[in-house]
Amino acid sequence: MKTLVLTAHPNLTKSRINRAWFDMLSQTQDITTRDLTSVGGPKMQFDLATEQALLLAHDRIVFQFPFYWYSAPPVLKAWMDQVLTYGFAYGPGGDQLKGREFLILVSTGGPADSYHAGGYNNFSMDEFLKPFQQTANLTGMTYLRPFVAHGMAQATPDQIQTGLPAMLAHLTNPVLDPKVKQARLLAELAADPVKAAAVS
Ligand SMILES: Cc1cc2nc3c(=O)[nH]c(=O)nc-3n(C[C@H](O)[C@H](O)[C@H](O)COP(=O)(O)O)c2cc1C
Repeated sequence: MKTLVLTAHPNLTKSRINRAWFDMLSQTQDITTRDLTSVGGPKMQFDLATEQALLLAHDRIVFQFPFYWYSAPPVLKAWMDQVLTYGFAYGPGGDQLKGREFLILVSTGGPADSYHAGGYNNFSMDEFLKPFQQTANLTGMTYLRPFVAHGMAQATPDQIQTGLPAMLAHLTNPVLDPKVKQARLLAELAADPVKAAAVS
């Protein structure tokens, strides 16, 4: 499985968590990392053929970014607007991304308990990320469970390092597709009637 990580941080040099993720992923086999800020330059201009060819060469597409104003930094939106075109990603003949997997890798400044009903951010990350989920739906990609690192504005270098293996394990886990996971679970239950009776 080949994974393309599109990193959207306005200044990866000054970043802490996204830089650490980027560095680790860049050294991982079968993962291609791409710093969109550096590729797009100050005008955030992307070469359509290059970007679309990269998408086609990978099975799992990852959007990596720090959470800014409950969304992604603008370079990611610029990339989406320019690259996910009619006739390629959607519309007549626009089924080029169909069947690929799509995953969000995001860091937040706010703590985990703020991202709930009753927390100061009121809504869950799943709710905030809905435009990305629907982008995956529209383009025929399978939306995988996002990986979210909370409280990263204040994270110590130790905390950042400690969290890296979990991030890598999630991104490289070949079985994240919810349909595949469900089929596996059902097969396990079918093989064990006692367990099956306890799960309904
Ligand atoms: C312009 C801006 C907007 C931000 N908006 C949010 C936000 O909406 N929610 C949140 O939890 N953190 C927010 N933050 C904090 C960042 O998400 C946090 O600093 C980042 O994830 C740390 O990643 P880095 O070390 O890679 O820069 C914001 C930070 C900046 C600079």
